[in-house]
Amino acid sequence: MQSRSGDASGPDQHGRPANPCTIVIFGSSGDLTKRKLIPALYNLSKGKLLPKEFAIIGFARSEGSDAAVREQLAKDIREYATGAVDPRLWNWFEERLHYVGGNFNDPKSYEKLKEALAKADKQHGTRGNYLFYLATPPGLFAEIVQQLGNAGLTAEENGQWRRVIVEKPFGRDLDSARALNGAIGGTLSENQIYRIDHYLGKETVQNILVFRFSNGIFEPIWNRQYIDHVQITVAESVGVEQRAGYYETSGALRDMVQNHLFQLLALIAMEPPISFEAEAVRDEKAKALRSVQPISPEDVLKCAVRGQYGDGMIGSNAIPAYRSSPGVNPSSNTESFVALKLFIENWRWAGVPFYLRTGKAMKRRVTEIAIQFKRAPHVLFRGTEAEHVPANFLVLHIQPREGISLSFQAKVPGPVVRAGAVDMEFEYSKYFGSDPTTGYETLLYDCMLGDATLFQRADTVEVGWQVVTPILDVWAALRARGFPNYAAGSWGPDEAAELLEQDGRAWRKID
Ligand code: BG6
Repeated sequence: MQSRSGDASGPDQHGRPANPCTIVIFGSSGDLTKRKLIPALYNLSKGKLLPKEFAIIGFARSEGSDAAVREQLAKDIREYATGAVDPRLWNWFEERLHYVGGNFNDPKSYEKLKEALAKADKQHGTRGNYLFYLATPPGLFAEIVQQLGNAGLTAEENGQWRRVIVEKPFGRDLDSARALNGAIGGTLSENQIYRIDHYLGKETVQNILVFRFSNGIFEPIWNRQYIDHVQITVAESVGVEQRAGYYETSGALRDMVQNHLFQLLALIAMEPPISFEAEAVRDEKAKALRSVQPISPEDVLKCAVRGQYGDGMIGSNAIPAYRSSPGVNPSSNTESFVALKLFIENWRWAGVPFYLRTGKAMKRRVTEIAIQFKRAPHVLFRGTEAEHVPANFLVLHIQPREGISLSFQAKVPGPVVRAGAVDMEFEYSKYFGSDPTTGYETLLYDCMLGDATLFQRADTVEVGWQVVTPILDVWAALRARGFPNYAAGSWGPDEAAELLEQDGRAWRKID
């Protein structure tokens, strides 16, 4: 992200090639590597943001060789690249791809990796700077970090850096997240740990900071005096698909709310940081999340709604119920939908509800943050009743549409004074064109520069878990009644609408 400063390498590094380094991808035979990481790194090389002195080492259980990995990834990139692949550039890229087959818990495998890293340093001039990307099942995170430490691969000496990107899920509750922080913190210092949340890699999510803190006109009204409430919607039109093994142990609250939705919430609610230094931004985000009013077990029933989809249609496609998906327990209690009402207890937000909802198999794929302003205090126009004047909404459209819109009242042309709702719209693609990306480019590039602004700090992850713990506990103790309670292709269960109706509000209509 431009205009943010990194570590000792300095802010002016952004926009220039990253420092020489080797990236090791643990679990390189998985989907993430071919779908996101390699296309993202390829895009960085296209944008001249990778250093010339660069290498990638895949590490996975299966036997393999540099040649086999190059052949496989050359096929995959044709399928998953976000644009045309330039054969000359791919050749350059491919020469830097290597592979080590080994066991994640075998010290000998890490000795092999150490040799491969030393070889890459010689062959590609990568100078002993290593980025380890943990794209494995979460059960292996602590083990890999410990093995790396034992093999002497995490110590930063002679100006060399060693960093570790940890994929989600980061724990499955507060205790396990604390234990994981403790385990990896025994080997790495906090500034070597980059906990990824891919929502922070999305351009429009990063834009929230720029929008709020580069414009003088919004911040003065960004508070309880002018804002009635905030709605955060992350709706997916896909169902659980082939991921039942993971999803059955997770559910929407763990999978989406504790991380992605809370990151959005923090960016909307945080105070202005004193600078765009990583720690300054992350301090404010952590403070915002720490201010979320704790939910008592009794409140869970009032301010948290869970849902699970049944059979339904999305467009012309028939979607089978969650419980009939492959690998799902036919009487599963796992929620595929969550809606919450939260309050942030501080001077800026006291009394302003934040309504959050996320679900799978919903009508449309849409992520947006809608800020509803308070209504005009007094209505001057004849025949218009105050309660019929629609409120102003500022909507930050995150995906698939990327932009910002503001709805307000304007006079409908004609001799009678009548007000009608209109929209002022900004579309990203119209102003800046649209260069498709994977969403991982900025995150990988920032990590190579040592800029942790867009990564989660230990305390933020833990406070996220702290907020959801009472809900997890109550939901684990009380089986959901009436599952499935929403049809695939709808906007979720009726209770989610009631959550707002009981406050005299409604979810913004998304067309
Ligand atoms: C992942 C979740 O973190 O985010 C998935 O594990 C979900 O269940 C995905 O589908 C959504 O990401 P995006 O970028 O498609 O909104």
